[in-house]
Amino acid sequence: MKISRKTFGILSNGKKVYLYTLKAGDLSLSLSSYGAVWTSLIVPSGKGPAADILLGYSGFASYTGNKPYLGATIGRFGNRIGNACFTLDGRAYTLYQNDGQHSLHGGRRGFDKRCWKTECYEEKDGVFVRFELESPDGEEGYPGNLKAAVSYGLAKSNEIIVNYEASSDAPTPVNLTNHSYFNLSGEGSGDILSHEVVLYASSRVEVDKNLIPTGKLVPVENTPFDFRTRKSIQKDYMAAGGGYDHCFVLDGEKGALRPCAEVFEPGSGRVMRVFATQPGVQFYTGNFLDGIAGKAGSVYNKHAGFCLETQHFPDTPNRPEFPPAVFGPGKDYHEKAVFAFDW
Ligand code: BGC
Repeated sequence: MKISRKTFGILSNGKKVYLYTLKAGDLSLSLSSYGAVWTSLIVPSGKGPAADILLGYSGFASYTGNKPYLGATIGRFGNRIGNACFTLDGRAYTLYQNDGQHSLHGGRRGFDKRCWKTECYEEKDGVFVRFELESPDGEEGYPGNLKAAVSYGLAKSNEIIVNYEASSDAPTPVNLTNHSYFNLSGEGSGDILSHEVVLYASSRVEVDKNLIPTGKLVPVENTPFDFRTRKSIQKDYMAAGGGYDHCFVLDGEKGALRPCAEVFEPGSGRVMRVFATQPGVQFYTGNFLDGIAGKAGSVYNKHAGFCLETQHFPDTPNRPEFPPAVFGPGKDYHEKAVFAFDW
């Protein structure tokens, strides 16, 4: 096992950004202190050479204008908040509208655009980087001084271990997630439509045409959203509206680390299994990717990668019927996810 660090870039305010590389088992994961971004993940294949399976950019500069949130850690609240406002304890809060009239992924300057404090550590079975930041009361319109910490670790067992934590001195919505785009045949190798997927979800969050929840959780049975038995993304994606960008309701007990998804790529034989404690997972098939200049000449177009963003449901701050996502004094936020690889 090994952790190394190098300078990744320098921000206009003179602050140094670091790139960490974790090696354990057969994997190598690189992460940046800017945006707590996963920049690359090298995974072997039983059928050919190892490949970097994460979409990303060639150099640091592009990460400061990372519109599709490639690899980024998202906060204070991942996914959409309808009409960029919510009411908490009788008080109305207004957020920045960065998705039409709605708020997406933390607003104008979410956690993906922040420099995180970092600390590396080693445990018996893995190597970790812990990222921390403070988000002051009123930042991006949210109440409460929030301390957030995310640790990303690589275990000898070829798993990425994710621990999300946050505490606040006043009640506030929190929904942290990671926005990595995977292509299990290697970034830049075309679309992900032939990947085969299982989602451990019997229902999904119904959304309107702007991807804002209607409040209903609808069964996936007999719909293009049924991934309870393995099927290719290709099979029903047109019937689903030309790709998936939906939050699935994970079966099993919320708060327990339980199966979330499994993705298999027939060409390379690579498999990724995801486990999560959160109530849901946003399955996004890169529908809005359009000519993104990626790593070493790669160009990412529609469906060049997919995301599995483990999370609370979108628009929870306006949906009392959803599992609550308000944390604060006496109620810290703790969630966990695991991404396990095989080939
Ligand atoms: C959302 C997409 C959005 C993408 C990039 C995903 O989490 O579900 O609608 O386009 O993030 O912002």
